[in-house]
Amino acid sequence: MLGKSVTAIKNFSAAEIRSVLDAAYKFKQIIKRGGEKKLSNLRGKAIVNLFYEPSTRTRTSFELAGKYLGADVVSINSGTSSIVKGESLRDTLRTIEAMGVDAIVMRHKAEGAADFATQVVKPVIINAGDGAHAHPSQALLDLFTIEQRKGRLAGLKVAIVGDILHSRVARSDVYAMTRMGMEVRLAGFKTLLPRFFDFDGVTVYESLDDAIKGVDVINVLRIQLERQQAGLFPSTREYARVFGINDERLKLAADNVLILHPGPQNKGLEISSEVTYCERSAIQDQVQNGVAIRMALLDLTLGGDA
Ligand code: CP
Repeated sequence: MLGKSVTAIKNFSAAEIRSVLDAAYKFKQIIKRGGEKKLSNLRGKAIVNLFYEPSTRTRTSFELAGKYLGADVVSINSGTSSIVKGESLRDTLRTIEAMGVDAIVMRHKAEGAADFATQVVKPVIINAGDGAHAHPSQALLDLFTIEQRKGRLAGLKVAIVGDILHSRVARSDVYAMTRMGMEVRLAGFKTLLPRFFDFDGVTVYESLDDAIKGVDVINVLRIQLERQQAGLFPSTREYARVFGINDERLKLAADNVLILHPGPQNKGLEISSEVTYCERSAIQDQVQNGVAIRMALLDLTLGGDA
């Protein structure tokens, strides 16, 4: 994977996904052991985080991942950069490239922004989310979290619940999970269900109760409240009633079902507090695993020694 830009998980083979997960296991041990976390794998490398949209988890974990690997990392806040003076994405990327960076981690509202970046500059581009298109590192950390808690991936059933149509997480998870031999069920209001996942291993449900019966994992997506104005679901109250994941609903799922949520959560809407903080929830694991997965991605693409 040396020199490979990471724009979408659908460009990853199962073997490449496996190599990222294997590297992440090693890095997770280093994070968990406490004490000195700083390695020298990427000493002398420079990474810029370029985020045009808000982020807590992805941006912070990429920044920590680069620093733990010994790279120099700079994060650009679009609100205090020359982007507010109208500088184009192309010129911003070229300006960063001219400073001699090795990788640019970028989040942008436009679908295809990361692919565009690979065409206009030479550093490795890592997509940290582009519109509703892709969020590859999220899909990898979701796989890693499931494998850590369940001991395997192949053969597991996962229900992804919520606004599938506009979710880059859902899109990336579907490709990653089916590639690793999982069965994926998609559930949400009809207006929020896609028509583009018409392939083996994916089934679309309009009933949440049917979708979660017998699954090993439920991945609860954030309601994108901005979509409500577009009339894609009746009200948040109705959404919570029909598609909210709460204790009552979990009685339909297996006792050991694992709960994921990419964050940030709308508590009481798509997920209840009891579910977030219950033993079956792996939401905090996802955050911790995000650092290990992002260390693995940076190390493998920038030529560390994992
Ligand atoms: N899951 C995720 O992308 O979270 P952030 O928006 O906080 O990065």
